[in-house]
Amino acid sequence: MESKIPGFYKLSPEERLKIVKKFANLTSDEVENLRKTGSLSIKKADMMIENVVGTMELPLGIATNFLINGKEYLIPMCIEESSVVAAASNGAKIARIRGGFRASSTEPIMIGQIQVTDLKNPEKAKKAILENKEKIISEANDRKSTIIKLGGGVKDVEARVVEFAGEKMLIVHLLIDCKDAMGANFVNTVVEDTAPLVEELTRGRVVLRILSNLATHRLARAEAVFDKKALGGEDVVDAILEAYQFACADIYRATTHNKGIMNGIEAVLLATCNDTRAVEAGVHAYASINGYHPLTTWEKNDDGDLIGKIELPLAVGIVGGATSVHPVAKTSRKILGIKSARELAEVLAAVGLAQNLAALRALATEGIQKGHMKLHARNLATMAGATDDIIDEVVEKLMKDGKPSFSKAKEIVENLKE
Ligand code: MEV
Repeated sequence: MESKIPGFYKLSPEERLKIVKKFANLTSDEVENLRKTGSLSIKKADMMIENVVGTMELPLGIATNFLINGKEYLIPMCIEESSVVAAASNGAKIARIRGGFRASSTEPIMIGQIQVTDLKNPEKAKKAILENKEKIISEANDRKSTIIKLGGGVKDVEARVVEFAGEKMLIVHLLIDCKDAMGANFVNTVVEDTAPLVEELTRGRVVLRILSNLATHRLARAEAVFDKKALGGEDVVDAILEAYQFACADIYRATTHNKGIMNGIEAVLLATCNDTRAVEAGVHAYASINGYHPLTTWEKNDDGDLIGKIELPLAVGIVGGATSVHPVAKTSRKILGIKSARELAEVLAAVGLAQNLAALRALATEGIQKGHMKLHARNLATMAGATDDIIDEVVEKLMKDGKPSFSKAKEIVENLKE
């Protein structure tokens, strides 16, 4: 069967499913797994993306202990990886001993880019843009939009001449306040609408008009003091600092260090239906400015406690797009109790810092496999048919020699049931 299926997009999810079943030789059970939906109905899913045949569920866990700027938070995290929720809760538990996280954020300013080519004199074109800043801003903001009504819109204009393969082009940046939206749609509309004026002013030819995911004007920061005793003593603090130095010195380690931070951040992004790819692209590019580096910094204070700080671009929204469509995303927002996109960004920064602390602490002490193994053993016990009344005993027995396996789990479960 060919994968070229004309009109596939016009079919209903059920009709598409029939075709996929035939193509992939799916069993009825497999089809049923795709067909079964949770709180996101097939109708809603079909309006969100193209060629829908079903929905897919992931676990949603709640990280506890978060105290951020004096406010208590429960953090919904959607992720397939074990230990992430536990690690975040753990990091936050230690942070709250010394008052929790202090977090802050900049205004929610996104960059919209306009690429101008075919310029006789790029520097002159740049001057024309900068001299007409006010005109560009007022024309760009002359539109019916909730973001404008709320005081958002274009706030500033920048221009740079860049060069590639001997060709110079002008890149115009519109700095756009997106208020509580992530803003991709708004920014893209504004840059598209402003392109003719930019062509007129520069006498060049506009090619691309698109937001930049490197949101260097939309930053979030968090910091916390982690009590040395709760961490396991000053030796542990020193070991964490050594682990941090490794990340500072080596890009291979820094990438994994930052991956751990993104474990937490992306889980909250998913739970709130924010654009994980946009944030991830921006964060890694931000980490690469001046050479790829860890997103967190770690140091020791005079008391021997550990101080952690994080700074990263976080283009997130609490209105618009999928955040307003997915029922679970709406509930996640309610659980978080956040009132603005900036507050969400601040929570995300704190989660990233907690996640990094927990990973570094585990890595610098007993390693991460022990914790993973316990969860793995629990999964094996469940798969082997352990019921609630015996599961703890099964896990304990499985962990005895540190090498849990499915066959061993089955044997233990059968013995206990007998
Ligand atoms: C695993 O998902 C994340 C870690 O590798 C992060 C780290 O190494 O810092 C544990």
